Amino acid sequence: SDLAAFVRGLPKAELHLHLEGTLEPELKFRLARRNGIELAERTVDEVEQTYRFHDLTSFLQVYYPAMRVLLEPADFHDLAYDYLTRAHAQGIRHVEMFFDPQAHTGRGVPFATVIEGYRSAIVRARREFGISAELILCFLRDHSAEYAMATLLEALPYRDWIIGVGLDSDERGNPPSKFAAVFARARREGFLLTMHCDIDQQDSIEHIRQALEDIGVDRLDHGTNIVEDDRLVELARDKGIALTCCPVSNSFVTSRMKSDEIVGLLNRGLTVTVNSDDPAYFKAYAADNYVALAEHAGLGIDQLVALAKNSFRGSWITPARLARFL
Ligand code: HPA
Ligand code: ZN
Repeated sequence: SDLAAFVRGLPKAELHLHLEGTLEPELKFRLARRNGIELAERTVDEVEQTYRFHDLTSFLQVYYPAMRVLLEPADFHDLAYDYLTRAHAQGIRHVEMFFDPQAHTGRGVPFATVIEGYRSAIVRARREFGISAELILCFLRDHSAEYAMATLLEALPYRDWIIGVGLDSDERGNPPSKFAAVFARARREGFLLTMHCDIDQQDSIEHIRQALEDIGVDRLDHGTNIVEDDRLVELARDKGIALTCCPVSNSFVTSRMKSDEIVGLLNRGLTVTVNSDDPAYFKAYAADNYVALAEHAGLGIDQLVALAKNSFRGSWITPARLARFL
């Protein structure tokens, strides 16, 4: 459509993207064959039959087991390279990508294997089609703070390849405060900070408050429930904290895209951005998310351009480079 072509042509950054959430069924089959791994499903259709999500937990129960096909540096390379190729085709010029090292080290794959594979794809994609990409190391919040700290220390030799740290996985009973010491250490080591505050969690507002006031994050992932607290909305706006919203993901893990909330926050002057989260599972890459939101909320050209500019404003690129996108 005209809308899709326009959105694809807009220069955009992607700020909320889990590399492990870009594992398309075709690549899963290819890696399984290469590594001699037997899969329960035999066709793409059978794999997609398992994509029945009604909340974050039911998504994570499909997301983690799929990763067992990722074993060698080449596997991580292929995963990231395929994503970067797709992102480029969607008009993404810059991407800050989450990865979950504990989902791999926890099953015996060395940290070095994961990050060297991802890094080689970043270097190659930059050279071949000019896209810039950074890595954000996410800690799994449903594991211990001690395990997160050990993972941070394991990452220090690779600090030049990692721009920031994040927090993902099951939020229930795992507040930001659990990881206060880990994030304080990460900040001292020079990493930028972000955290998931997922949609409609039991303690969404308290978690958002902790992330903003106690941890001092530089960005908030999802964070859409901030609409429930005017004081926090003003705080995020005054501090220039960007929200990385994921409309199509929202429609999978809740029953709504949360478009009223997302557009409302945009109109109130927050640095709202639109992102894909786990595009292989939610069947929508970055531009597809802009189109879905635009069609659902009736966005005009001006708002689409504002969202695209926000994606660079909320990113961690240098001010000189930012100026070229505004
Ligand atoms: N939330 C929490 N954990 C995740 C997500 C998410 O959106 N995607 C992948 N792991
Ligand atoms: Zn996410």
